[in-house]
Amino acid sequence: MLSGAKVLITGTSRGLGLEMVTQLANRKSPPSLIFATCRNPVAAVKLQEVAKKFDFVKIIQLDVNALDTYPALSKEVYKHTDKLDILINSAGISSSEAYDLSTFTPEIMTQTLHTNLVAPIYLTKIFLPLLAKPEIVEGNPSLVVNISSNMGSISENTTRGGLYPYRCSKTALNAFTRSLSLDLKIQNISSVSIHPGWVATDMGGKAAELTPAQSISGVLTLIDEFQEEQNGNFYDYAGKVFPW
Ligand SMILES: NC(=O)c1ccc[n+]([C@@H]2O[C@H](COP(=O)([O-])OP(=O)(O)OC[C@H]3O[C@@H](n4cnc5c(N)ncnc54)[C@H](OP(=O)(O)O)[C@@H]3O)[C@@H](O)[C@H]2O)c1
Repeated sequence: MLSGAKVLITGTSRGLGLEMVTQLANRKSPPSLIFATCRNPVAAVKLQEVAKKFDFVKIIQLDVNALDTYPALSKEVYKHTDKLDILINSAGISSSEAYDLSTFTPEIMTQTLHTNLVAPIYLTKIFLPLLAKPEIVEGNPSLVVNISSNMGSISENTTRGGLYPYRCSKTALNAFTRSLSLDLKIQNISSVSIHPGWVATDMGGKAAELTPAQSISGVLTLIDEFQEEQNGNFYDYAGKVFPW
């Protein structure tokens, strides 16, 4: 699914988003276009290095919280193509503040929901015309990938609790994935939630179990080998179904 595809990714300045762009660009059969969006392209030095080497990597400025800039982003993408095959919602935040009721603030909750939930939903809405392939009856669906988290799994939340804003945002993102998978089938768009594992990024911290390279290699294999019957499910980076 990745070879020759047109892909847009959010949050590519660092962490998992940057690793996705790097691995995708270096594939033997890479995508034909990668729109690497990030909040501050000037500061995204590593991303710029990748884009310098591969002219099919286009860096576009996007703060996912700036919803009023989405139409301009879509116009920018239209300059290159009128079709998108894969939208990867990777930008995300997790605050260790507002962990439980004693530290909870509505502000942190709202901010987290905005970045991790409202933004991916609205971005999908904006890019729907580019993703839709109603003319194709079977096979080759477009794909919306929501980078979720084990923290969004209710059934796995049996011992630790806490982390209200982040957990709720990812659980709701999963609900979005499932609804989208049903609603957009008719337009030949599939959707999937992926838990990338516990990864050593700024968010995951140094003690994490996986390197970004290990996590993203698995995530990209899952996307590359995606089959329509996987539509609407929740997987981990190794391609195993993850419990809701
Ligand atoms: N690392 C883990 O262990 C882990 C586990 C489960 C799920 N995840 C999920 O994986 C995704 C990527 O996480 P990560 O580990 O790569 O985190 P990270 O290292 O903290 O990087 C977060 C990325 O999101 C971007 N971002 C945050 N707010 C943004 C905004 N308003 N507009 C545009 N970009 C924004 C950041 O851009 P700036 O540089 O501009 O801040 C950065 O590129 C997230 O959705 C996260 O929830 C991570």
